[in-house]
Amino acid sequence: MATDDRTIVILDGGRRTPRADILINNREPGLFSRFSTTQLGGFAIAGTLANTKLDRGLVGHVVMGMAQHSHRDSIYAARGMSWRGGLDKTVPALTVARICGSGAEAVAVGAEIILGGLRHDRERPFVVVGGAESMQYPFTLYGVRGKKLGEAVQKYGPIDAKALPAGTHLQDMLLMSLYDPSAGMAMANTAEELGRRYQITREEADAFGFRSQSRAKAARDAGAFREETVPVAVQLDGASDPLEVVHDTHILDDASLAKMARLPAAFEAGGIVTAGNASAVVDGAGAMVIGTAADAAKHGAKPLARLAGVGVAGCDPKIMGWGPVPSTERALAAAGISGKDVDRVELNEAFAPQALAVIRDFGKMGIDAEKVNPEGGAIALGHPLGATGAILTLTCAYGLRRAKQRYGLVTMCIGGGQGISLVIEAL
Ligand SMILES: CC(C)(COP(=O)(O)OP(=O)(O)OC[C@H]1O[C@@H](n2cnc3c(N)ncnc32)[C@H](O)[C@@H]1OP(=O)(O)O)[C@@H](O)C(=O)NCCC(=O)NCCS
Repeated sequence: MATDDRTIVILDGGRRTPRADILINNREPGLFSRFSTTQLGGFAIAGTLANTKLDRGLVGHVVMGMAQHSHRDSIYAARGMSWRGGLDKTVPALTVARICGSGAEAVAVGAEIILGGLRHDRERPFVVVGGAESMQYPFTLYGVRGKKLGEAVQKYGPIDAKALPAGTHLQDMLLMSLYDPSAGMAMANTAEELGRRYQITREEADAFGFRSQSRAKAARDAGAFREETVPVAVQLDGASDPLEVVHDTHILDDASLAKMARLPAAFEAGGIVTAGNASAVVDGAGAMVIGTAADAAKHGAKPLARLAGVGVAGCDPKIMGWGPVPSTERALAAAGISGKDVDRVELNEAFAPQALAVIRDFGKMGIDAEKVNPEGGAIALGHPLGATGAILTLTCAYGLRRAKQRYGLVTMCIGGGQGISLVIEAL
């Protein structure tokens, strides 16, 4: 095993929260709806520190991904996650945002901080990296500051709703965020566009959604996610004891292809993206500790995997979902391996036609379609934007170890037209 100071290792012990739907059965607020993004990130960091055999005083920096500012404390982001997670106030924290790739970006930036040296704390050489996202995005009101509402001009502070002019409407930041002005369409429509270009049928998209659900259920039932998950206690109204949330909530126990085939197109007439083959909208977070192989050896920490290569690429925003293809080419080249060497892929399933288009091009690179998402993906598990890259890195690293495999690829498309890929090697 490498013990040099240029190899970045991910330590054993990283943890993620379960991923919880933003609503429970479309009837009431989701299980994590009362947690802000910083709280979710705090749970993941606390779980990571509790399970990583390392003196937390050796952590010198925190880098966490987050896509959207969904709560009043979101501006503090990584810093809020850091203290909530139990790190000392003297540990600085950086928030990174590459939208859906933010969690993977955090791994890359953490590695660069260590390798680059400019901001590296040599006394505390380990970095906590990860990502968090509460998708309980707010409904917002624009154009009010400076307007006369009732008797006064609105400058700061709470708004008297009764004073709002008739016809004032609140915008849904969730829906608005998933629309890219540069593409002139919503994320889902970019997936429809990819589906058209790759001539993907509704049947293929549904079969892929069904595959995701079936694999995720089998993995959950086999306890595959247990070693990467930190349960989260939730106090529900009227309950005497907190509920311990252990599992991802979007996994269906009764997924059926026949039922999926009856679901209407969710985004455009004649389209193939439905609620059954699109990523679920969920809240969640993930974290892990990274450092050099030399520091891991020096401090007796146990590496789980090595970061072998990183790739990031831009593409046409109208087919943003294709981004993992060029970013993976770069990451494989950086790792010095070919697609044939990849044993396991965690490809974020933003939408089935998007994932299928990427998998088709992965085939040309020698990556076997069967190796993609062996335990399901975001269609069943959900996609908490800024957290996904970190969560998939954990799933990949632990999955490689369980299967005694070597190389893993973690990749996701990014709204606005980008892709990010990490190649890891199990140790
Ligand atoms: C597609 C989308 C709009 C669906 O949202 P939703 O309507 O809240 O989805 P739900 O999970 O509530 O499913 C809707 C219905 O379909 C049913 N359904 C979903 N998946 C199913 C499946 N596999 N089999 C059978 N029924 C299914 C649900 O049970 C639900 O039924 P109900 O209305 O009777 O309760 C939403 O998931 C979405 O926008 N996803 C993409 C998010 C995104 O763009 N992320 C960024 C990517 S870049």
